[in-house]
Order: sequence, then C-alpha cells, then structure tokens
Amino acid sequence: MRILLDNFTKSFGKLTVIDQMNLEIHDGEMIALLGGSGCGKSTTLFAICGIHKVNGGRILFGDKDVTNITSQERNVGVVFQSFALYPHMTVEQNIGFPLKLRKEPVEQIKRKVHEIAEMVHIEVLLHRRPGELSGGQQQRVALARALVRRPDVLLLDEPLANLDATLRLEMRSEIRRIQQETGITAVLVTHDQVEAMSMCDRIAIMDEGKIVQITEPRDMYVNPVSDFVAGFLGSPPIAFLEGRIEDGKFVEPSTGVHMPLSADVATANNGREVRVGIRPEYFQPGNGAMIKGRVSFIEAQGRETLYNVMLPDGNILRSIQGSHSPVKIGDDVEWGVDTAHILIFGQDGLRI
Ligand SMILES: Nc1ncnc2c1ncn2[C@@H]1O[C@H](COP(=O)(O)OP(=O)(O)O)[C@@H](O)[C@H]1O
Ligand SMILES: [Mg+2]
Repeated sequence: MRILLDNFTKSFGKLTVIDQMNLEIHDGEMIALLGGSGCGKSTTLFAICGIHKVNGGRILFGDKDVTNITSQERNVGVVFQSFALYPHMTVEQNIGFPLKLRKEPVEQIKRKVHEIAEMVHIEVLLHRRPGELSGGQQQRVALARALVRRPDVLLLDEPLANLDATLRLEMRSEIRRIQQETGITAVLVTHDQVEAMSMCDRIAIMDEGKIVQITEPRDMYVNPVSDFVAGFLGSPPIAFLEGRIEDGKFVEPSTGVHMPLSADVATANNGREVRVGIRPEYFQPGNGAMIKGRVSFIEAQGRETLYNVMLPDGNILRSIQGSHSPVKIGDDVEWGVDTAHILIFGQDGLRI
C-alpha cells in the first residue's frame, strides 16, 4: 500500500512540530524515519497511524484519503518500544485480541493466530504469559499481534530500543525478513543509524520536523547533502576540518594541512571557506595527502581498531584500521587522507 503525506502539518498548541511535510512511501517498501530525539519522527508516525489529528495537509493510503478516518478504519499494525502486551492474557490471547475486538469467529481467530505465530517463530510459546517471556520473545509477540489483522501498513516506533545488543541484532534481521515475506509497506522510526541502514530500502533523515534527505542507505552514506547528514551516518563518525580552498587545494591555515582537490571543485570555489569531512576509513597510514598529528585515543573494537589523531590545533581525525598497528597513545604519526573520498561542505553546511 502506497502512503502519501501531502503537505502534512502538525502542531501542539503554538508549537508547529511538522510544517508541510511531503513524503511518498512506495508500495511494499520499508522506510526509516531517522533523526535525533524530538525531531518529529513519532509525531509523523502517529499521524500515519491515525492517533494524531493533522492540522493541515492530507494523508493518502493508495488513492484513498484517510486524513479524517480513525486508526481502526485505517487497518494499520503498530509496534511500540514498550511492547504493551496484556500481562494477564496468554500469548495466544494477546495475538488474537485485535480479531476478538472485531468479533471474528473463535475458530478463525485460532487459525490466524497459529499462522502468524509460525511466521514469527513463537508457536511453542502460545500458552505462556508475557511475564514468562524474554524481551526478544515479547517483541515477537507484539509483532505477531500487529500483523494478525493483515494490516495494509506496519508502523514501528523504536521497536528495538528495549532489547539488549544481541537481541537487537537478531530482531533487526527478523523484522526485515517478516516484512519482506509479507510484502507489507513498513515505516520504522529510529534514532539509530545502523538500524535504519541495515533494515530499510530507503532512509528519510529528519531534522527539526523536516526531511533533509531521502534516499537509499548506501547513497546517503556516500552522497550526503549536508554535514548534518554526513555526521549522522557512520560509526565511528566522520571528522571535520575547517579551512579554505586555495590554488587547487584545501588548506587548513593553523596546521598547514593541505589536500589536493579535483580541478572543477577547486576552480569553482577558489577562496571559499569550507568544512571538509573525512571518514575514518579514508584516513590511513600509507598513500594520500599526509597529515601529522598525535595519537590521543585508541579503542580496540575486536576486528578493527579506532585511533583518534589530534592535530596541532586540537582538531581530531579518526582512523579505523583492520590490521594491528604498534602505535601507542602519545605517538606522533603521519597518516594519509584519500582525497578522492573527502566530502566538502560550504559554511551553510550544504555539500559543494
Ligand atoms: N502530545 C504532545 N504534546 C505536546 N508536544 C508534543 C507532543 N508530542 C510531541 N511533542 C513535541 O513534538 C516534538 C517532536 O516530538 P516527537 O515526534 O515525539 O519526536 P521524536 O519521536 O523524533 O523523538 C518534540 O518537541 C515534542 O516535545
Ligand atoms: Mg519518538
């Protein structure tokens, strides 16, 4: 089911949280609304769900205008961060509850509940109560309950936030598997870029109630429209240096760092003050534009090691390296930047 937000606007009293948002979610796609706390992700999701009334604009499911119809009539399945299961009911009763409300026949409810429990891999838990389940199992029950009505749309608000790291990893791929098996259109609200990148076909990244970029995960990582987007995606994060474009190079005056730039960018922007973004995988020992600094922090992450290198002016560059290096904190190093992969932004934050 295609979802269309057409100039969607939402205010709470005098505070306008979302101002004329336009968003099209394709049929069968899973999209992430990604952004920091308070940027309006849940508000947008609640409006799609029908929990919130909108203050302006329209919401369409397919060609149908659903702006003024209730949540029940929209046929949406919702999973929240708190699983919100009924503690006194068994798993089977929890999952079947939306069908019972609709007064479906008992036998039919039983059949549908068993079908969905099989898909979500919780057949053996049907007679337990939520208190007897692990967090991951509770999450599967919440998902089954959201899906049992065969909703047109699946809405997920930070569904993994209450799970520990191992379960989060498992449920990431499980939710994606179920979404793909059912072909349901899904919206995932998250502040976690790894979740958004790994689970979704596209990401809409939000800042202060606005969508600042919407594209496929890899494209957003490689081609961010702004320093905000570049800084949001990637762990460890991208590092920025401030400087100026002079005679074909990026120059950072206080340290003397200079990096050759492509001729077209350099010529068109000669003399301009810019911010250069360097991802940790592109700051490495070996070839490239060399930068001197002192190792200020080392974090062994198992397969890889993260190094922070402090430049003389206090700026930090990050380097993520696969092979073990004998470098210690306090050592002076001179590592290279792969200038083909640096990202250049104007002082307004927009990509040049
Ligand atoms: N029911 C509400 N009443 C008043 N303000 C609200 C309400 N819900 C959300 N807000 C405000 O709207 C903004 C966006 O909130 P929300 O959509 O929950 O953000 P997110 O989910 O991205 O963290 C915040 O400033 C929040 O305080
Ligand atoms: Mg929220």
